[in-house]
Amino acid sequence: MADRLIIFDTTLRDGEQSPGATMNLPEKIRMAEQLEKLGVDVIEAGFAASSPGDFESVNRIAATIKTATVASLARCNREDIFRAWQAVQVAAHPRLHVFLATSPLHMRHKLEKTPEQVLESIATEVSYAASLCPDVEFSAEDASRSEPDFLVRAFDTAMAAGASTLNIPDTVGYALPEEFAGLVRYIMERVRQDKKVIFSVHCHNDLGLATANSLAAVRAGARQVEGTVSGIGERAGNACIEEVTMTLRVREDYYNCLPGIVTEQIYPTCRMLSHIIGQPIPLNKPVSGDNAFAHEAGIHQDGVMKKRETYEIMSAEAIGRSSNLIVLGKHSGRSALRRKLEDMGYSLADRDVDVVFAAVKELADRKEEIFDEDVEALVLEKVYRVPDHYVLLGLQVQSGNASLQPTAAVSMEARGRRVQKAAFGAGPVDAAFNAVCSALKRRPKLESYLVNAVTGGMDALGEVTVRISENGLSAVGRGAHVDIIQASALAMVNALNRLTKKEEEER
Ligand code: KIV
Ligand code: ZN
Repeated sequence: MADRLIIFDTTLRDGEQSPGATMNLPEKIRMAEQLEKLGVDVIEAGFAASSPGDFESVNRIAATIKTATVASLARCNREDIFRAWQAVQVAAHPRLHVFLATSPLHMRHKLEKTPEQVLESIATEVSYAASLCPDVEFSAEDASRSEPDFLVRAFDTAMAAGASTLNIPDTVGYALPEEFAGLVRYIMERVRQDKKVIFSVHCHNDLGLATANSLAAVRAGARQVEGTVSGIGERAGNACIEEVTMTLRVREDYYNCLPGIVTEQIYPTCRMLSHIIGQPIPLNKPVSGDNAFAHEAGIHQDGVMKKRETYEIMSAEAIGRSSNLIVLGKHSGRSALRRKLEDMGYSLADRDVDVVFAAVKELADRKEEIFDEDVEALVLEKVYRVPDHYVLLGLQVQSGNASLQPTAAVSMEARGRRVQKAAFGAGPVDAAFNAVCSALKRRPKLESYLVNAVTGGMDALGEVTVRISENGLSAVGRGAHVDIIQASALAMVNALNRLTKKEEEER
């Protein structure tokens, strides 16, 4: 019988620290619900003391999630721990995650504390956390660059003070697999385990070793792995949950340790995150990338057709990638759509199913075949858009050349008022953006522009993602349409709506 590995997901905390990966409250709640469906054991919902916004999202997620444990990060001080407890105490299964650095470098230069003072803080503050919450995790920040014997003392202290999970972070992605496994073994052999404790690891990916280090630690006896969906996170990111999970499944013969992840939810979860943060899944990303199950070489194609296992070590279905069958057509009914949505990981209210149904029907008039990805794009467009201050009512674009500049005219609703504007541009997309911005009297900087065909085929939906910034704030926007200039304008309007929402929250 395989051992059970606890998966601690920190997509909403460490993951959100990844450049450009900020999420708003409804997006965080949606992501947390999906993480629960994915079967992660612990959801680190945020760092409650870091801002009122973080406090609110930790608190709302704690109130929403039913089966998974919900954790808040806290520095090793009274105020942070109290704030974290205020935020998570409503959870069915709350956890306080207290951290303090233990490496000479961090203690001397960052904390300006002696090792003895660090041990003292751990003893007092972890006890305080344990007096509030029955489930306390202690992390020794920068463990991989700490003195192993000092780490043992720090963990002994944390355990005696009431921590039941002891986390060994490779905070700066410095460790190597064999060395890290050795450190985990060293600690596990020496920490006094008067009661049951779980040893955990938290690896960063600065040298591309986060997954390898986490797996080496599992082999050494760690029974909790911390990571994120798609490996997003601070700097080069964190250990990638889907890579860790599928390695443990595919090589169960070697590890004999399995997480409770519902693997069929992996791909829907990666897609949802990618849509929310506006960052595409890289084509060659292990497990979830589009090329992960694509076979280009003739010999490989021939082999896979004869027996899939010749060149595939796992099936696309196992991670929840359907074979992209046509799902719906002009004559499909509401219940077929609802079933499809549920298979894709979306449980929508009746009213939202009706909205998507109408959009699918409309699309079916313009597009012969409707795939999962089309439906998903419509769900994101029609159901999950933030409530709009600005609405694009009409767009007319004329392309041009050197002697006749491209032009665009828009008709928009801006906070209930009707506005019309026309503008020139370097190209039709630029002209559309200029017309939208001029109608709304905004001057954002376009940081990135990405266009993607949602499915194959000449009539595919075009999905545009833009990132804009203005006055120190940035926002991602998306738009999907069979016409990519319309999709671009919708993406810009969506980004401006989100930016406006952020500005209002900042005030
Ligand atoms: O990387 C790190 O050390 C962390 C801790 C707070 C666990 O994120
Ligand atoms: Zn981290």
